Amino acid sequence: MAGFNGMIKSEEQIAKMRTSAHLVAQAIELAGAMVAPGVTTLDLNEAAEKFIVDQGGYPAFKGYKVGSQTYQFAACISTNDAVVHGLPNATPLKEGDIVSIDIGVEKDGWFGDGAWTFAVGEIPKEWTKLMQVTRESLLMGVAQAREGAHLYDISRTIQEYCEAHGYGVVRELVGHGIGRHLHEDPQVPNFVPGRFEGGFPNIELKEGMTFAIEPMVNLGTARVKTAKDKWTVLTADGKPSAHYEHTIVVRKDHGEILTK
Ligand code: MF3
Ligand code: CO
Repeated sequence: MAGFNGMIKSEEQIAKMRTSAHLVAQAIELAGAMVAPGVTTLDLNEAAEKFIVDQGGYPAFKGYKVGSQTYQFAACISTNDAVVHGLPNATPLKEGDIVSIDIGVEKDGWFGDGAWTFAVGEIPKEWTKLMQVTRESLLMGVAQAREGAHLYDISRTIQEYCEAHGYGVVRELVGHGIGRHLHEDPQVPNFVPGRFEGGFPNIELKEGMTFAIEPMVNLGTARVKTAKDKWTVLTADGKPSAHYEHTIVVRKDHGEILTK
């Protein structure tokens, strides 16, 4: 194997990723500002897509293939018990919902990926707390992305913080390397894999490695299932889930967030 040093990006390449990631952040902010009762997730998708294209970017999820399926939208928009990969639809949002907006952008051959969960008006206190803790866990994970640390330092930090609050950390889906492709090695789990769980090398982090870190955290059980639409990932118990994601660069002392 060429080794994991091949994952290190130059400052020139990182600058291109910063441009794409900045578009991701702006598209999410724009769609997030529209979140209100009566607005549909198709409306949010359309606004985000138009913004990305107007800025000379390409919505990276559109046309993305998973197995034999091809994703048709710019954004994945997941409400309440939908964890990730929700399909934008014509159902109006209503007061008390939470809505996770996940967007990828490609520009000039380089990718950015990010997600944020928004509340529709007033939501239960426990849901606000879930969102807050998930957001904090992401920032704590990013802080671990420093030269000389190991990948599982990110994973462990996110897992321990979320589980200490009694939440379920999703295991079926994980973060990932990112750069010239939306999904690159390594996988970035939000939990410390078991001794015999393959596919998660605990690599040593080097400055210039770029990751999408994305905790998916459930109010109840960590277990998930796939909806009838074959895309949407739902919590197994129907309780809500939060999802925050940043594209980051490993730096000397902590990760640098590009999706802002
Ligand atoms: N949002 C996922 C990620 O963050 C990728 C979505 S792929 C799609 O890695 F096909 F569903 F769009
Ligand atoms: Co991602």
